Amino acid sequence: MPGLIERYRDRLPFADGDPVVTLGEGDTPLVHAPHISELVDTEVWLKLDGTNPTGSFKDRGMTCALSAAVREGAKAVICASTGNTAASAAAYAARADLTCAVIVPEGKIAAGKLAQALMHGARVIALRGNFDQALTLVRALTDRQPIALVNSVNRFRLEGQKTGAFEIMEQLDTLDGLCIPVGNAGNITAYWKGFNELDVAPRLFGFQAEGAAPLVLGKRVDQPETIASAIRIGNPARWEEAMEAMTASRGMVRAVTDAEILAAYRLLAAREGVFCEPASAASVAGLLRYGADGARRVACILTGHGLKDPDTALHQVGGVIACEPNLSAVEEAVLG
Ligand code: F0G
Repeated sequence: MPGLIERYRDRLPFADGDPVVTLGEGDTPLVHAPHISELVDTEVWLKLDGTNPTGSFKDRGMTCALSAAVREGAKAVICASTGNTAASAAAYAARADLTCAVIVPEGKIAAGKLAQALMHGARVIALRGNFDQALTLVRALTDRQPIALVNSVNRFRLEGQKTGAFEIMEQLDTLDGLCIPVGNAGNITAYWKGFNELDVAPRLFGFQAEGAAPLVLGKRVDQPETIASAIRIGNPARWEEAMEAMTASRGMVRAVTDAEILAAYRLLAAREGVFCEPASAASVAGLLRYGADGARRVACILTGHGLKDPDTALHQVGGVIACEPNLSAVEEAVLG
């Protein structure tokens, strides 16, 4: 399957012959979730966007952001990130032979993402501060330096991410509701753009972690906290657009606790066979807590892969069973 720019060129701001930086992103599975459907008495689908090349939905936006950067003659890109954007920017920059710097909150990003960004050759800067401070600083820096900013304040990111809506509607004829985690609020804004372009209007149900829920509270959170490190954000860049999208779609933005996020995270893995990261499970946690509100067919966006953060996973589950290398010991260990 070709990458997103080639598949959707007529709906993306790229002409034939423009440079394309791609890793074959998009075309991710949309799978039915029988167990969760039964729990909420609604038809529930899971969009497995953690199966993108670097393990998150960010690749949809990054193919466009990096292709546009190359077209504009940029030599370097930068982003602030809670992990996924950093890994994605680093990979696509490596592919395009551009220099990449990423600024992440020190001690608050998952090991898998640090490993990716470093392996792809990015300059990784651990900020003694949070994501919101990192984003403010990179915005100021890119005003002074000729470095392309590839956070979702970059419009090409949203153009790429709207293709998630296209893919869902190619598979399902109708959709009543979309459950989606909200951090910096770029993705929900992008989905709404994609649905608008198709003339469909599912209700958008956005979910934030309780300790990082500025949109729910209606005010900035100076010290956001949540186990879902990807959405540990207190001052979303796309605040107004996201609120407009939820209002226009007759949707809602609501909060879920870390305990609810972790319960959904375990349930998805144990009952649906889907290992996503905690932030992604916020979409399902919200659906389980608040119900589908009359929507008969709902899609949950599982934004990132569980392998990003094995440490959180290993804290959630039982340990391994040590065993001597002989048949009776193995038999006992296996049969319990
Ligand atoms: N889910 C995951 C796995 C994410 O990494 C993010 C954002 C979101 C949801 C929220 O999406 O910001 O568009 O509302 N991660 C960013 C990053 C902030 O740096 O990787 P959003």
